[in-house]
Amino acid sequence: MDSKTFSYLYHKVRGYSDEDIRRESGLTEDEYELFEQAMSPMVEEIHKQQSRSEHIGNDFVQLTRYIYAGKSDQECGLTRPDAIKARSGEIFPLPAVGKLDFGKMSLQSAIGQRRSLRKYAEVPLSQEELSFLLWSASWARDFRSNERMEITFRNVPSAGSRHPLETFVDIRRVSGIKPGLYYYHPIKHCLILINEDPQTQEAILEGCFRQEMIQNSAVNFIFTAVPYRTGWRYGQRGYRYLYLDAGHVGQNVHLAAEAIGAGACMIGAYMDEAMNDVLGVDGIEEFVIYIAAVGKKPEA
Ligand SMILES: Cc1cc2nc3c(=O)[nH]c(=O)nc-3n(C[C@H](O)[C@H](O)[C@H](O)COP(=O)(O)O)c2cc1C
Repeated sequence: MDSKTFSYLYHKVRGYSDEDIRRESGLTEDEYELFEQAMSPMVEEIHKQQSRSEHIGNDFVQLTRYIYAGKSDQECGLTRPDAIKARSGEIFPLPAVGKLDFGKMSLQSAIGQRRSLRKYAEVPLSQEELSFLLWSASWARDFRSNERMEITFRNVPSAGSRHPLETFVDIRRVSGIKPGLYYYHPIKHCLILINEDPQTQEAILEGCFRQEMIQNSAVNFIFTAVPYRTGWRYGQRGYRYLYLDAGHVGQNVHLAAEAIGAGACMIGAYMDEAMNDVLGVDGIEEFVIYIAAVGKKPEA
C-alpha cells in the first residue's frame, strides 16, 4: 500500500472532511474522486473491524492467559518449524565474530549514556562495527537441529529460545558495502543482498512516515517476526513473547551502538502494510515488528 492510499484511508475512517483528507493525503480533486469510488469497499471493511479493534488490547491480554491455552502444536506432535527462513541471493561475508573487540566502554557507561539519537554524523560505519551490531542483536552462537526440534541460541534471550525474529538491514553508509536492502543470516553471519534499488530505500523512508532518522542513518535494522516459530510451542500466548523478544533486541542495538560511538533510535511508528510490502512478507506468517536506525554520533 502506498502512502497516499494509507493516508486517504486513515483520515477517511477517522471522519475527516473531504477537503482535509485531500490536503493531508496530497490528492488532486480527480484523484480524490477516484479514491472515493475505488476505496469504498475497503473503508467499509475497516469500519467493520474498528469495533473489534477497540477492545483487542484488553482481549489479547485476557485471552492469552495460560488458563485458556489449549494443547500447543508442539504438544500435539506437529512438524517443527525451521529456526531460520531460507533466503537466497548474493552473499557478503561480515568480519568474523571472534575478531570483534569493542570492549573499551564499561557496561555502566553504555547503559547510563544511552539516549535515542535521531541525527547522525556523515561518516560511515565500518564493516566491523556493523558486524558487532548484528552480533549483539541477532547472531546465533549455537544452532541445533533434529527432526523434533530446531533451535538457535543468541546474545539476546527469547521465550523457549524460539527466536522468532528475522533481521533485514537497510544499508545506507557502510564502508565497502554497497547501499541496498540485505537479509542477515544469523548462523552464517553474512549479509544476503535482496535488492539495491534506491526506490526500496525511498519506500522504507515513506513507510516510516518519513521520519528523518531513517534517511540520515548509516543503517536501519528492520526486524520481522515469524509468529509460528514461537506459536508452535506456546499457541496464541506466543504472540506476547514476540514483542518481549523484540524489546531485548532493541536494547542490545542501543547498547552496542553506544559501545562504538554511535547511537540508535527505535521506531514503532511505521505503516505496517507498506513496510511488509517492501520486504515482500505477507503480514501474517511474517510481519515487520520493530525498526532501529543507527549512525555515528555527530561531533559535539
Ligand atoms: C517501542 C518503541 C517505539 C518507538 N518509536 C519511535 C518512533 O517511531 N519514532 C521516534 O522518533 N522515536 C521512537 N521511539 C523512541 C522513544 O521516543 C524514546 O525512547 C523516548 O522518547 C525516550 O527517550 P530516550 O530513548 O532518549 O530515553 C520508540 C521507542 C520505543 C521503545
